[in-house]
Amino acid sequence: NEGNLLLLLFTLLRKGIVAEAMRRLQEVFDIEALPHDVLPHRKPPQFMVDLFNKVADSNGITKAPGLLEGNVVRSLEDRDYFDQSYFYFNISSVGRNEQMLKAELRVFKLNKNHMPQKSFWQHFLKVDVYELLDRKSKPQRRNLISSRLLSLYTEGWEVFNVTQTVSKWVGNSSTNHGFLITTTHLSRTKMESNFVKFAKSRHNMRDNRNAFLVLFTNNDRQKSSSFLPSSTGKTMQQIRDTSSFSPKDQIVPCQLNDLFVDFHEIGWAGWIIFPRGYKAYYCKGACLFPLGESLRATNHATVQSIVHTLKLSKDVSTPCCVPDKLSSISIMYFDDNENVVLKNYKDMVATSCGCH
Ligand SMILES: *[C@@H]1O[C@H](CO)[C@@H](O)[C@H](O)[C@H]1NC(C)=O
Ligand SMILES: *[C@@H]1O[C@H](CO)[C@@H](O)[C@H](O)[C@H]1NC(C)=O
Ligand SMILES: *[C@@H]1O[C@H](CO)[C@@H](O)[C@H](O)[C@H]1NC(C)=O
Repeated sequence: NEGNLLLLLFTLLRKGIVAEAMRRLQEVFDIEALPHDVLPHRKPPQFMVDLFNKVADSNGITKAPGLLEGNVVRSLEDRDYFDQSYFYFNISSVGRNEQMLKAELRVFKLNKNHMPQKSFWQHFLKVDVYELLDRKSKPQRRNLISSRLLSLYTEGWEVFNVTQTVSKWVGNSSTNHGFLITTTHLSRTKMESNFVKFAKSRHNMRDNRNAFLVLFTNNDRQKSSSFLPSSTGKTMQQIRDTSSFSPKDQIVPCQLNDLFVDFHEIGWAGWIIFPRGYKAYYCKGACLFPLGESLRATNHATVQSIVHTLKLSKDVSTPCCVPDKLSSISIMYFDDNENVVLKNYKDMVATSCGCH
């Protein structure tokens, strides 16, 4: 009957709206492909967690501007599972529109046990990081990127600046043949090669000490003004309750209201690592004459509210209650390649409202 048909139409309409809302959200968060599966059963690398905690609070609110270099940080895991001294990173997730700011190769040096310390020089180890120019030639053609001396007996992370090399790879991915790391032990009598090892990925064996390539980039695709959190908020609000309208709302002056965007409700909890959601807030309330100080009215809004009140022009409504200050948030997630990505998003949280 007619009632059922209307209900069906309404349901279809709602489905359409939800699909459109999800598409727009994906656009706001600059995510092209959503990972198909839920959160991989693994922990993000500790340095990414530390980086997140440095730039954002537990709600994802950016602590201070400029703490992060660029607005995207990716940690790519080593994808070579066979060769102990060879490291390969798939950089295909870096977009063409991204500007490379910094690339760091992070490798974990393993301890060399049972080594008697004979002399000062025997204490040291020379580490060379090369860019491979191809993988097939023997001897392998390569470019030296960096060298350093390390103590034989310490264990821990070494970070190499590989910005130039990786920038080239991003420009032309067919030049990416990976890194080669060699170690040479300097002793008085002989030189020993590949004496010390760096932790290495193995298939289906997750280890927090695996090598990572960390990329800091700037993605200017992110729009800042065309997607205001208030519109996101409205969408979520509409999905949640389409009918609760209270006439009392009209007399409350324009102000900031609570709005928690819950990634669980959006269906993104499976792959967003931090935060669980964030407080976006939204602006709501009346912008009636006289607009007090607290309504932060623009001169234009003041004049508009006067024209409206005096009914000088019948088409002119009251000014709108909108966010006039916005702040950014950071989000950390697994991408569809199981890499961990930290992104900073501008203008996501309304921090004050005004009549405009
Ligand atoms: C890199 O990752 C992309 C996306 O997952 C994949 O299509 C491509 O084959 C990978 N490249 C290599 C060399 O493994
Ligand atoms: C890393 O290398 C790039 C290019 O070689 C250089 O411009 C940059 O200053 C280096 N960064 C650090 C922190 O040394
Ligand atoms: C990318 O590098 C390959 C191998 O060095 C080269 O043959 C090719 O012309 C390069 N492509 C572009 C677009 O520069």
